[in-house]
Amino acid sequence: MVLPYVHDVTEHEQVPILFDQITRDLGGLDLIIYVAAVQPPVALHEYNFEKDEAMLRTNLLGAVAWLNQAALRFEQARSGHIVGISSIAGDRGRVGSPVYNTSKAGLNTYLEALRNRLTRFGVTVTTIKPGFIDTELLKNAPKTFWVISPDEAAAQVYAAIRRRSQVVYVPPRWRLVGLIVRSIPSSIFRRLNF
Ligand SMILES: NC(=O)c1ccc[n+]([C@@H]2O[C@H](COP(=O)([O-])OP(=O)(O)OC[C@H]3O[C@@H](n4cnc5c(N)ncnc54)[C@H](OP(=O)(O)O)[C@@H]3O)[C@@H](O)[C@H]2O)c1
Repeated sequence: MVLPYVHDVTEHEQVPILFDQITRDLGGLDLIIYVAAVQPPVALHEYNFEKDEAMLRTNLLGAVAWLNQAALRFEQARSGHIVGISSIAGDRGRVGSPVYNTSKAGLNTYLEALRNRLTRFGVTVTTIKPGFIDTELLKNAPKTFWVISPDEAAAQVYAAIRRRSQVVYVPPRWRLVGLIVRSIPSSIFRRLNF
């Protein structure tokens, strides 16, 4: 059974009421997956607060608004599973889209902190870090490679949820990219154009 609800995740004040309604309608809650994000095109010399605010309000604050509700409920129930769809883009600040990177880095840290709080209450928190997936959002990416289909990504996310994994790159080969990208000294990294 699928129950659809219309909601704009940037309307943060609506979240507690809608969360209660959904959990009531479903008769409980075992798993929550936060997916929503925007990534508008950002030119190399552009500093546009409207775009930046939209990314932070959707990608990060929307996640905090929804997942705080789930965290409280799951902590009290001493069970449950929180999943956040983040991105490899959060592994490092890059020239291409500073605030998209920031929103995903913030999401990574928030999810890590939730994991550290909630593991002791039997709650699992999974961070998903995709590379490139062939969706609307990718249309604004300047360069892409290793692109996978949404179905393939969904299958890998589902498998990670079943395994109750903590941090998962999708597909897994991006873990090595993340490791390399995070290891490059800043003095070199700031000269790179990606
Ligand atoms: N595609 C990639 O290469 C890639 C790579 C790394 C990470 N990701 C992450 O994967 C997740 C899914 O992205 P996608 O690739 O599937 O992109 P997408 O096709 O653009 O989907 C984004 C989703 O977010 C929803 N959304 C955006 N703003 C919203 C708002 N204010 N309120 C409610 N929903 C909102 C959209 O709903 P509507 O359709 O109703 O607008 C849509 O369902 C995102 O977190 C993204 O950052 C994607």
